[in-house]
Amino acid sequence: MKHSKFLGLNMSAFIIMVLGGLLLTACGGSSGGSSSTGSTGGSSGGTSSCASPPKLTKATGLRVGFSQNISNSPWRLAENKSMSDGAKAAGDTFVMTDAGGQDSKQVSDIQSLISQKVDVLVIAPLTETGEVSAILAAKKACIPVFLVDRDADHSLAKPGQDYVTFVGSDFVKQAQLVADTLIQATNGKAKIIELEGTSGATPAILRKKGFDDEIKSHPDMQIVASQDANFDRDTARQKMQTLLQAHPNVNVVYCANDEECQGAIAALKAAGKVPGKDVLVGSIDGETAGLQSIIAGEQLVSVTSNPRLGALTFQAISDYAGGKSVATWVVQPDKTYTKENAQANLVNGF
Ligand code: AHR
Repeated sequence: MKHSKFLGLNMSAFIIMVLGGLLLTACGGSSGGSSSTGSTGGSSGGTSSCASPPKLTKATGLRVGFSQNISNSPWRLAENKSMSDGAKAAGDTFVMTDAGGQDSKQVSDIQSLISQKVDVLVIAPLTETGEVSAILAAKKACIPVFLVDRDADHSLAKPGQDYVTFVGSDFVKQAQLVADTLIQATNGKAKIIELEGTSGATPAILRKKGFDDEIKSHPDMQIVASQDANFDRDTARQKMQTLLQAHPNVNVVYCANDEECQGAIAALKAAGKVPGKDVLVGSIDGETAGLQSIIAGEQLVSVTSNPRLGALTFQAISDYAGGKSVATWVVQPDKTYTKENAQANLVNGF
């Protein structure tokens, strides 16, 4: 076979180089984010020509993409409004997607926002691992990512490197505060049903850890059953109904959020129990329904998990664009609601 030459290369080598170039372009080079000589490309995101995390090259008039994991509760609706308000106050354009509670949909939502070439991505990931590939793809496309309300698994994607920061609450502390209130109210003696949040989501993992670790030093605080109720009212009601048949003598229910507690309270009543008297109920969020249950004496405590994260998030975006350093965790402070302060804080509900 006869080999022709082009610029001193034989034709086979030339074809390999051209094909290699095409492949690189197909793998992300079209966004300008791919280069074999760039900085480290994140935990598994390949190489990229942008910084780690990517810089924000302008400070005003940004196109902000917000990827929400689901919009099925007062908490999520309050978060959506807060993000949209934050964008408006900053003079930015806001593009929102809603994944309907599916990791796969959220990944394609984020990919679509990347294709639309938004300037910044704000992501409320459903789970700690489910959206990591999309977070790394955004980095590869040189779009800075701000995670809000839920974090990613740091062994797969790192704040300050693969994404700018996590803006959200201290979930362990929230759970500890609920546990402490329940320990005090029961003198450290309880049979507990624990309703967990969505499996794999940061607040589900850490609220379980915070609660379980906190009661460990109280041997008479005993968890008799623990189940995932998906942060959802009706799921919690159904799970509670079944669990109560197996464990009719429980005197405490710990829920991962107020929506679950609404379901648990309904199930307790349906089983002829008096919530707040026969069974003490505690949870997290500080939503209006939870505050009303506290005022009615049916719920003992709700530690806030403020969904109004827009102001902190857009401040972090503005700081980042201005070249200021942004902490890898921007902590949303929370407080405890009990019958002492629930009425006064009803205005802060959602
Ligand atoms: O990620 C935050 C948690 O998710 C909220 O506490 C809960 O209500 C929501 O589903």
